[in-house]
Amino acid sequence: MSHVLVNVAWPYANGPRHIGHVAGFGVPSDVYARYERMKGNDVLMVSGTDEHGTPILVEAEKEGLTAQELANRYNRVIAKDLCDLGLSYDLFTRTTTGNHEHVVQEMFKQCLENGYIYKGTQQVAISPSTGRTLPDRYIEGECPICHAEGARGDQCDACGNELDPDELINPVSKINGETPRFEQTEHYFLDLPALAEANKAWLETRKGWRTNVINFSLGLFKEVKPRAITRDIDWGIPVPVKGWIDNPNKKLYVWFDAVIGYLSASIEWARRQGDPEKWREWWNDPKCPAYYFMGKDNITFHSQIWPSEMLAYNGKGSRGGETGPMGPLNLPEQVVASEFMTMEGKKFSSSRGIVIYVKDILARYPVDAVRYYISVAGPESSDSDFTWAEFVRH
Ligand code: MF3
Ligand code: ZN
Repeated sequence: MSHVLVNVAWPYANGPRHIGHVAGFGVPSDVYARYERMKGNDVLMVSGTDEHGTPILVEAEKEGLTAQELANRYNRVIAKDLCDLGLSYDLFTRTTTGNHEHVVQEMFKQCLENGYIYKGTQQVAISPSTGRTLPDRYIEGECPICHAEGARGDQCDACGNELDPDELINPVSKINGETPRFEQTEHYFLDLPALAEANKAWLETRKGWRTNVINFSLGLFKEVKPRAITRDIDWGIPVPVKGWIDNPNKKLYVWFDAVIGYLSASIEWARRQGDPEKWREWWNDPKCPAYYFMGKDNITFHSQIWPSEMLAYNGKGSRGGETGPMGPLNLPEQVVASEFMTMEGKKFSSSRGIVIYVKDILARYPVDAVRYYISVAGPESSDSDFTWAEFVRH
Protein backbone atom coordinates (compact mmCIF):
# COMPACT_ATOMS: atom_id res chain seq x y z
CA MET A 1 0.00 0.00 0.00
CA SER A 2 1.38 3.38 -0.85
CA HIS A 3 0.49 6.87 0.25
CA VAL A 4 -1.08 9.34 -2.17
CA LEU A 5 -1.78 13.00 -1.43
CA VAL A 6 -4.75 14.58 -3.19
CA ASN A 7 -4.69 18.36 -2.81
CA VAL A 8 -7.76 20.17 -4.03
CA ALA A 9 -7.86 23.91 -4.82
CA TRP A 10 -9.35 26.06 -2.06
CA PRO A 11 -12.47 27.97 -3.18
CA TYR A 12 -12.67 31.62 -2.15
CA ALA A 13 -15.31 31.97 0.59
CA ASN A 14 -17.10 34.65 -1.40
CA GLY A 15 -20.15 32.92 -2.79
CA PRO A 16 -21.81 29.57 -3.47
CA ARG A 17 -20.14 27.21 -5.94
CA HIS A 18 -21.41 26.80 -9.48
CA ILE A 19 -21.00 24.01 -12.01
CA GLY A 20 -18.04 25.74 -13.67
CA HIS A 21 -16.08 25.69 -10.41
CA VAL A 22 -16.75 22.09 -9.51
CA ALA A 23 -16.09 20.80 -13.03
CA GLY A 24 -12.57 22.21 -12.67
CA PHE A 25 -11.35 21.21 -9.22
CA GLY A 26 -14.18 19.30 -7.52
CA VAL A 27 -15.44 16.24 -9.30
CA PRO A 28 -12.09 15.37 -11.00
CA SER A 29 -10.22 15.39 -7.67
CA ASP A 30 -12.84 13.19 -6.04
CA VAL A 31 -12.90 10.67 -8.88
CA TYR A 32 -9.14 10.46 -8.63
CA ALA A 33 -9.10 10.06 -4.84
CA ARG A 34 -11.70 7.28 -5.00
CA TYR A 35 -9.73 5.53 -7.74
CA GLU A 36 -6.56 5.55 -5.61
CA ARG A 37 -8.48 4.25 -2.58
CA MET A 38 -9.98 1.43 -4.65
CA LYS A 39 -6.44 0.47 -5.68
CA GLY A 40 -5.77 0.02 -1.95
CA ASN A 41 -3.69 3.15 -1.51
CA ASP A 42 -3.69 5.33 1.57
CA VAL A 43 -5.10 8.63 0.32
CA LEU A 44 -5.03 11.90 2.21
CA MET A 45 -7.35 14.43 0.55
CA VAL A 46 -7.46 17.96 1.96
CA SER A 47 -8.80 21.39 1.13
CA GLY A 48 -10.79 24.21 2.65
CA THR A 49 -12.04 27.70 1.98
CA ASP A 50 -9.64 30.45 0.94
CA GLU A 51 -10.67 33.34 3.19
CA HIS A 52 -8.16 36.15 2.82
CA GLY A 53 -7.43 38.85 0.29
CA THR A 54 -9.47 41.17 -1.84
CA PRO A 55 -11.90 38.54 -3.19
CA ILE A 56 -13.33 38.37 0.33
CA LEU A 57 -13.16 42.11 1.05
CA VAL A 58 -14.90 43.10 -2.18
CA GLU A 59 -17.83 40.76 -1.54
CA ALA A 60 -18.02 41.65 2.17
CA GLU A 61 -18.43 45.31 1.26
CA LYS A 62 -21.17 44.38 -1.19
CA GLU A 63 -23.07 42.35 1.40
CA GLY A 64 -22.48 44.79 4.25
CA LEU A 65 -20.63 42.25 6.37
CA THR A 66 -17.19 42.13 7.91
CA ALA A 67 -14.67 39.96 6.10
CA GLN A 68 -14.82 37.37 8.88
CA GLU A 69 -18.63 37.27 8.85
CA LEU A 70 -18.63 36.80 5.09
CA ALA A 71 -16.03 34.03 5.31
CA ASN A 72 -18.03 32.32 8.07
CA ARG A 73 -21.16 32.40 5.96
CA TYR A 74 -19.63 31.05 2.77
CA ASN A 75 -17.42 28.51 4.45
CA ARG A 76 -20.66 26.79 5.54
CA VAL A 77 -22.40 27.24 2.18
CA ILE A 78 -19.42 25.91 0.20
CA ALA A 79 -18.78 22.99 2.55
CA LYS A 80 -22.40 21.96 2.05
CA ASP A 81 -22.21 22.30 -1.75
CA LEU A 82 -19.11 20.13 -1.86
CA CYS A 83 -20.44 17.58 0.64
CA ASP A 84 -23.67 17.25 -1.30
CA LEU A 85 -21.64 16.62 -4.44
CA GLY A 86 -20.10 13.65 -2.63
CA LEU A 87 -16.57 14.98 -2.41
CA SER A 88 -14.74 12.68 -0.01
CA TYR A 89 -12.28 15.03 1.69
CA ASP A 90 -10.44 13.77 4.76
CA LEU A 91 -10.49 17.36 5.95
CA PHE A 92 -12.11 20.50 4.58
CA THR A 93 -10.90 23.39 6.71
CA ARG A 94 -10.31 27.14 6.35
CA THR A 95 -7.44 29.59 6.02
CA THR A 96 -8.57 31.60 9.07
CA THR A 97 -7.59 28.92 11.61
CA GLY A 98 -4.84 29.57 14.17
CA ASN A 99 -3.05 26.47 12.88
CA HIS A 100 -2.92 27.82 9.33
CA GLU A 101 -1.63 31.20 10.50
CA HIS A 102 1.10 29.48 12.49
CA VAL A 103 2.23 27.22 9.62
CA VAL A 104 2.23 30.14 7.16
CA GLN A 105 4.34 32.25 9.49
CA GLU A 106 6.79 29.36 10.00
CA MET A 107 7.15 29.02 6.21
CA PHE A 108 7.71 32.76 5.86
CA LYS A 109 10.33 32.90 8.61
CA GLN A 110 12.35 29.98 7.25
CA CYS A 111 12.28 31.36 3.70
CA LEU A 112 13.38 34.75 5.07
CA GLU A 113 16.17 33.15 7.05
CA ASN A 114 17.32 31.20 3.99
CA GLY A 115 17.53 34.46 2.05
CA TYR A 116 14.67 33.83 -0.40
CA ILE A 117 12.43 36.52 1.04
CA TYR A 118 13.74 40.07 1.18
CA LYS A 119 12.42 43.56 1.78
CA GLY A 120 12.03 46.04 -1.07
CA THR A 121 9.62 48.59 -2.45
CA GLN A 122 6.73 48.25 -4.86
CA GLN A 123 4.54 50.71 -6.78
CA VAL A 124 1.08 50.39 -5.32
CA ALA A 125 -2.15 51.91 -6.61
CA ILE A 126 -3.88 54.50 -4.42
CA SER A 127 -7.33 56.01 -4.86
CA PRO A 128 -6.83 59.78 -5.23
CA SER A 129 -10.23 60.58 -3.70
CA THR A 130 -10.10 58.33 -0.62
CA GLY A 131 -6.39 57.77 -0.11
CA ARG A 132 -7.11 54.04 0.17
CA THR A 133 -4.76 51.51 -1.39
CA LEU A 134 -6.17 49.50 -4.27
CA PRO A 135 -4.49 46.08 -4.19
CA ASP A 136 -5.26 43.13 -6.48
CA ARG A 137 -8.97 43.00 -7.27
CA TYR A 138 -9.53 46.66 -6.46
CA ILE A 139 -7.99 47.69 -9.76
CA GLU A 140 -8.64 46.51 -13.26
CA GLY A 141 -7.18 47.36 -16.64
CA GLU A 142 -5.90 45.99 -19.87
CA CYS A 143 -3.46 43.07 -19.61
CA PRO A 144 0.02 44.14 -20.81
CA ILE A 145 0.65 40.59 -22.07
CA CYS A 146 -2.51 39.40 -23.87
CA HIS A 147 -4.33 42.77 -23.99
CA ALA A 148 -7.58 41.37 -22.58
CA GLU A 149 -9.73 43.84 -20.66
CA GLY A 150 -10.55 43.20 -17.01
CA ALA A 151 -7.08 42.07 -15.92
CA ARG A 152 -6.58 42.63 -12.19
CA GLY A 153 -3.73 44.08 -10.15
CA ASP A 154 -2.23 40.66 -9.48
CA GLN A 155 -3.30 38.44 -12.34
CA CYS A 156 -4.95 38.26 -15.75
CA ASP A 157 -7.53 35.47 -15.93
CA ALA A 158 -7.57 35.52 -19.72
CA CYS A 159 -3.92 34.46 -20.13
CA GLY A 160 -3.23 33.25 -16.59
CA ASN A 161 -0.15 35.45 -16.11
CA GLU A 162 0.70 37.13 -12.85
CA LEU A 163 0.95 40.89 -12.97
CA ASP A 164 2.19 43.84 -10.94
CA PRO A 165 -0.37 46.63 -10.45
CA ASP A 166 1.71 49.26 -12.28
CA GLU A 167 1.89 47.05 -15.39
CA LEU A 168 -1.85 47.37 -16.15
CA ILE A 169 -2.73 49.51 -19.15
CA ASN A 170 -5.37 52.17 -18.33
CA PRO A 171 -5.89 51.02 -14.73
CA VAL A 172 -9.11 52.06 -12.98
CA SER A 173 -10.39 51.64 -9.45
CA LYS A 174 -13.10 49.01 -9.21
CA ILE A 175 -14.73 50.97 -6.42
CA ASN A 176 -15.46 54.20 -8.28
CA GLY A 177 -13.81 54.01 -11.70
CA GLU A 178 -11.23 56.70 -11.03
CA THR A 179 -7.65 56.48 -12.27
CA PRO A 180 -5.33 55.54 -9.40
CA ARG A 181 -2.06 57.23 -8.63
CA PHE A 182 0.96 55.11 -7.79
CA GLU A 183 3.19 55.33 -4.75
CA GLN A 184 6.15 53.30 -3.54
CA THR A 185 5.53 51.32 -0.36
CA GLU A 186 7.66 48.75 1.46
CA HIS A 187 6.96 45.09 0.85
CA TYR A 188 8.48 41.67 1.21
CA PHE A 189 9.32 39.82 -1.99
CA LEU A 190 9.76 36.16 -2.80
CA ASP A 191 13.02 35.94 -4.73
CA LEU A 192 11.72 33.74 -7.54
CA PRO A 193 14.85 34.26 -9.71
CA ALA A 194 16.96 32.58 -6.99
CA LEU A 195 14.57 29.60 -7.06
CA ALA A 196 13.94 29.44 -10.80
CA GLU A 197 16.71 27.05 -11.72
CA ALA A 198 15.65 24.44 -9.17
CA ASN A 199 11.97 25.02 -9.93
CA LYS A 200 12.49 24.57 -13.66
CA ALA A 201 14.76 21.55 -13.20
CA TRP A 202 11.97 19.88 -11.22
CA LEU A 203 9.40 20.76 -13.90
CA GLU A 204 11.59 19.21 -16.56
CA THR A 205 11.48 15.86 -14.77
CA ARG A 206 7.64 15.78 -14.79
CA LYS A 207 5.98 13.01 -16.76
CA GLY A 208 2.41 12.54 -17.91
CA TRP A 209 1.22 16.12 -17.44
CA ARG A 210 -1.47 17.48 -19.71
CA THR A 211 0.30 19.13 -22.63
CA ASN A 212 -1.19 22.57 -22.11
CA VAL A 213 -0.35 22.52 -18.38
CA ILE A 214 3.31 21.58 -18.79
CA ASN A 215 3.77 23.99 -21.69
CA PHE A 216 2.21 26.88 -19.81
CA SER A 217 4.28 26.02 -16.71
CA LEU A 218 7.59 25.88 -18.57
CA GLY A 219 6.69 29.15 -20.30
CA LEU A 220 6.63 30.87 -16.89
CA PHE A 221 10.42 30.49 -16.74
CA LYS A 222 11.20 32.56 -19.84
CA GLU A 223 11.24 35.63 -17.63
CA VAL A 224 11.23 35.33 -13.85
CA LYS A 225 10.84 38.33 -11.54
CA PRO A 226 10.62 38.57 -7.74
CA ARG A 227 6.97 38.80 -6.53
CA ALA A 228 5.64 40.96 -3.73
CA ILE A 229 4.11 38.66 -1.09
CA THR A 230 2.73 41.36 1.21
CA ARG A 231 -0.04 43.89 0.64
CA ASP A 232 -1.25 47.24 2.01
CA ILE A 233 -4.46 45.73 3.32
CA ASP A 234 -6.02 45.08 6.73
CA TRP A 235 -7.32 41.54 6.12
CA GLY A 236 -4.91 38.63 6.03
CA ILE A 237 -2.16 36.90 7.98
CA PRO A 238 0.17 39.23 9.89
CA VAL A 239 3.72 39.46 8.52
CA PRO A 240 5.91 37.75 11.14
CA VAL A 241 8.64 40.37 11.32
CA LYS A 242 9.33 42.91 14.06
CA GLY A 243 7.67 46.23 13.23
CA TRP A 244 5.28 44.50 10.77
CA ILE A 245 3.48 41.92 12.86
CA ASP A 246 1.41 44.55 14.69
CA ASN A 247 0.86 46.79 11.68
CA PRO A 248 -2.87 46.56 10.96
CA ASN A 249 -2.38 47.73 7.36
CA LYS A 250 0.24 45.25 6.17
CA LYS A 251 -0.65 41.60 5.60
CA LEU A 252 0.63 38.64 3.63
CA TYR A 253 -0.68 38.30 0.07
CA VAL A 254 -3.56 35.83 -0.09
CA TRP A 255 -1.81 33.55 -2.58
CA PHE A 256 1.30 33.32 -0.40
CA ASP A 257 -0.84 31.88 2.38
CA ALA A 258 -3.46 29.90 0.43
CA VAL A 259 -1.09 27.40 -1.19
CA ILE A 260 0.39 26.63 2.24
CA GLY A 261 -3.11 25.47 3.16
CA TYR A 262 -2.42 22.03 1.71
CA LEU A 263 0.35 21.56 4.26
CA SER A 264 -1.41 23.22 7.21
CA ALA A 265 -4.59 21.21 6.53
CA SER A 266 -2.58 17.96 6.53
CA ILE A 267 -1.06 18.99 9.87
CA GLU A 268 -4.51 19.83 11.25
CA TRP A 269 -5.86 16.50 10.03
CA ALA A 270 -3.05 14.60 11.79
CA ARG A 271 -3.66 16.48 15.03
CA ARG A 272 -7.36 15.68 14.85
CA GLN A 273 -6.47 12.00 14.35
CA GLY A 274 -4.55 12.12 17.64
CA ASP A 275 -1.34 11.33 15.74
CA PRO A 276 0.22 14.78 15.26
CA GLU A 277 3.26 13.71 13.22
CA LYS A 278 1.31 11.49 10.81
CA TRP A 279 1.09 14.14 8.07
CA ARG A 280 4.80 13.63 7.44
CA GLU A 281 4.04 10.32 5.70
CA TRP A 282 2.44 12.35 2.86
CA TRP A 283 4.85 15.29 2.82
CA ASN A 284 8.35 14.15 3.73
CA ASP A 285 8.53 10.81 1.87
CA PRO A 286 9.79 11.46 -1.66
CA LYS A 287 7.95 8.33 -2.80
CA CYS A 288 4.51 9.74 -1.88
CA PRO A 289 3.07 11.50 -4.93
CA ALA A 290 1.04 14.69 -4.48
CA TYR A 291 -1.63 15.49 -7.08
CA TYR A 292 -3.08 18.99 -7.19
CA PHE A 293 -6.49 19.67 -8.79
CA MET A 294 -7.61 23.11 -9.99
CA GLY A 295 -8.81 25.30 -12.82
CA LYS A 296 -6.25 26.60 -15.31
CA ASP A 297 -6.17 30.11 -13.83
CA ASN A 298 -4.40 28.57 -10.81
CA ILE A 299 -1.48 26.98 -12.70
CA THR A 300 1.17 29.63 -12.00
CA PHE A 301 0.56 29.33 -8.26
CA HIS A 302 0.98 25.55 -8.29
CA SER A 303 3.76 25.14 -10.88
CA GLN A 304 5.84 28.07 -9.68
CA ILE A 305 4.82 29.93 -6.50
CA TRP A 306 4.15 26.90 -4.29
CA PRO A 307 7.10 24.79 -5.52
CA SER A 308 9.35 27.83 -5.10
CA GLU A 309 8.06 28.41 -1.56
CA MET A 310 8.85 24.78 -0.74
CA LEU A 311 12.30 24.93 -2.37
CA ALA A 312 13.02 28.08 -0.36
CA TYR A 313 11.86 26.37 2.84
CA ASN A 314 13.95 23.30 2.01
CA GLY A 315 17.01 25.51 1.35
CA LYS A 316 17.21 24.21 -2.20
CA GLY A 317 17.51 27.37 -4.33
CA SER A 318 20.69 29.03 -5.57
CA ARG A 319 21.38 30.53 -2.14
CA GLY A 320 21.27 27.18 -0.35
CA GLY A 321 20.02 27.27 3.24
CA GLU A 322 18.68 25.04 5.99
CA THR A 323 15.66 22.77 5.65
CA GLY A 324 13.02 23.92 8.14
CA PRO A 325 11.62 21.54 10.80
CA MET A 326 8.55 20.64 8.67
CA GLY A 327 10.69 19.62 5.73
CA PRO A 328 11.94 18.49 3.40
CA LEU A 329 8.63 19.16 1.67
CA ASN A 330 7.79 17.20 -1.49
CA LEU A 331 7.04 19.09 -4.66
CA PRO A 332 3.93 18.18 -6.71
CA GLU A 333 3.89 14.97 -8.68
CA GLN A 334 1.40 16.53 -11.02
CA VAL A 335 -0.51 19.76 -11.40
CA VAL A 336 -3.83 18.56 -12.76
CA ALA A 337 -5.41 21.69 -14.17
CA SER A 338 -8.69 21.75 -16.03
CA GLU A 339 -9.68 24.12 -18.78
CA PHE A 340 -12.83 26.19 -18.38
CA MET A 341 -16.44 25.13 -18.66
CA THR A 342 -18.75 27.59 -20.34
CA MET A 343 -22.51 27.71 -20.06
CA GLU A 344 -24.51 27.57 -23.29
CA GLY A 345 -21.54 29.22 -25.04
CA LYS A 346 -20.96 31.98 -22.47
CA LYS A 347 -18.47 32.40 -19.65
CA PHE A 348 -19.98 31.47 -16.27
CA SER A 349 -20.56 34.65 -14.33
CA SER A 350 -22.38 34.90 -11.01
CA SER A 351 -22.61 38.68 -11.36
CA ARG A 352 -24.24 38.48 -14.79
CA GLY A 353 -26.52 35.62 -13.77
CA ILE A 354 -24.96 33.15 -16.22
CA VAL A 355 -24.68 30.44 -13.67
CA ILE A 356 -25.99 27.12 -12.43
CA TYR A 357 -25.38 26.71 -8.74
CA VAL A 358 -24.46 23.28 -7.37
CA LYS A 359 -27.34 23.59 -4.94
CA ASP A 360 -29.88 24.19 -7.72
CA ILE A 361 -28.81 21.41 -10.05
CA LEU A 362 -28.69 18.97 -7.12
CA ALA A 363 -32.21 19.97 -6.12
CA ARG A 364 -33.44 18.72 -9.51
CA TYR A 365 -31.12 15.88 -10.54
CA PRO A 366 -29.42 13.01 -8.72
CA VAL A 367 -25.84 13.70 -7.71
CA ASP A 368 -24.48 10.80 -9.77
CA ALA A 369 -26.05 12.23 -12.92
CA VAL A 370 -24.23 15.48 -12.32
CA ARG A 371 -20.94 13.77 -11.49
CA TYR A 372 -21.28 11.51 -14.53
CA TYR A 373 -21.87 14.42 -16.87
CA ILE A 374 -18.90 16.36 -15.51
CA SER A 375 -16.73 13.25 -15.75
CA VAL A 376 -17.51 12.49 -19.40
CA ALA A 377 -18.09 15.98 -20.77
CA GLY A 378 -16.01 18.17 -18.47
CA PRO A 379 -13.20 20.52 -19.56
CA GLU A 380 -10.40 18.01 -19.06
CA SER A 381 -7.99 19.09 -21.77
CA SER A 382 -9.97 21.69 -23.69
CA ASP A 383 -12.73 24.10 -22.78
CA SER A 384 -16.17 22.45 -22.79
CA ASP A 385 -19.65 23.86 -22.93
CA PHE A 386 -22.44 22.95 -20.52
CA THR A 387 -25.81 22.78 -22.20
CA TRP A 388 -28.99 21.38 -20.71
CA ALA A 389 -29.59 19.44 -23.93
CA GLU A 390 -26.23 17.68 -23.66
CA PHE A 391 -26.75 17.08 -19.95
CA VAL A 392 -30.09 15.39 -20.59
CA ARG A 393 -28.73 13.45 -23.57
CA HIS A 394 -25.87 12.03 -21.50
N1 MF3 B 1 -9.12 30.54 -4.07
C1 MF3 B 1 -8.46 30.30 -5.31
C2 MF3 B 1 -9.44 30.40 -6.47
O1 MF3 B 1 -10.58 30.20 -6.28
C3 MF3 B 1 -7.80 28.94 -5.32
C4 MF3 B 1 -6.80 28.75 -4.25
S1 MF3 B 1 -6.07 27.25 -4.42
C5 MF3 B 1 -4.91 27.21 -3.20
O2 MF3 B 1 -9.03 30.65 -7.59
F1 MF3 B 1 -3.78 27.08 -3.72
F2 MF3 B 1 -4.92 28.27 -2.56
F3 MF3 B 1 -5.14 26.30 -2.41
ZN1 ZN C 1 -3.54 38.52 -20.08
